[in-house]
Amino acid sequence: MTILSGTARLAGITGWPVSHSRSPRLHGFWLERYGIDGAYLPLPIDPANFPAAVRGLMLSGFRGINVTIPHKVAAFAICDTVDESARRAGAVNTLVFESGRITGSNTDGWGFLENLRAQGGDPTAGPALLLGAGGSTRAIAAVLLNLGVQVTIANRTRSKAEALAGELPGLTIIDWDRRSDALSDHALLVNTTSLGMAKQPRLDIDLDRAAGTLTVSDIVYVPLETPLLAAARARGLRCIEGLGMLLYQAVPGFRAWFGADPVVDEALRRFVAADLLA
Ligand code: ATR
Repeated sequence: MTILSGTARLAGITGWPVSHSRSPRLHGFWLERYGIDGAYLPLPIDPANFPAAVRGLMLSGFRGINVTIPHKVAAFAICDTVDESARRAGAVNTLVFESGRITGSNTDGWGFLENLRAQGGDPTAGPALLLGAGGSTRAIAAVLLNLGVQVTIANRTRSKAEALAGELPGLTIIDWDRRSDALSDHALLVNTTSLGMAKQPRLDIDLDRAAGTLTVSDIVYVPLETPLLAAARARGLRCIEGLGMLLYQAVPGFRAWFGADPVVDEALRRFVAADLLA
């Protein structure tokens, strides 16, 4: 049990619901590892109360919070300042409170890139094909475009892909039905849909159409090895599992709130993954 002092640093994650979040476990591991006098709490906040509750946390001395579904866009609106990552993503997942002001950033795209690199991938190896058109798609597309990567997206509902292209100039759109045909023109495939998640249908895509150099990344991490990653591994393609993106996106917030630079390593991965299997 952690005993806090009267000057303990406080942070947490807001969501509705928030009970499924692995962030308290992840930050809790780091707090214990670095012996920090601090706590990271699950904070269920009803969307109707979001702005007032966040201001209440700030007025109560919290150093900041993570924000998850459904608050990421509402959080953007209550920030006094947002950085470039948040503007490009159109949403924030990390808030820092300082001198009564709220600064927002979006670390999802950064987390995606760090995880890709840590697992041996090269985001600039060639064109990227992203499946999906949700908030995660936008954050990932934004960081890849920033690196000068050519990005194509395919989404079941084409109009959502078109709306995203309106927000992020430079995106190419193809029909959902063309996803397998397009594989051979791409160096990186990223599944940002919910397909392949436990209790969801699997993603149907023909990896036999891909070059042997394709890197396959899935942001789904329950299960850790999705049917897509298993199929890619069976073909000898480089696979990037999704859990690492969750681990890396947490790094900037932890650093800002708790004043230590946390390391993502195998011990952390195992600790968080153990809870996914439970
Ligand atoms: P995020 O959490 O990234 O914001 P989301 O908004 O929940 O994600 O989006 C989930 C994604 O999975 C969407 O791109 C969705 O496609 P639609 O825009 O057509 O709804 C995609 N998705 C979910 N179920 C799907 C299915 N059965 N077939 C194809 N795509 C699916």
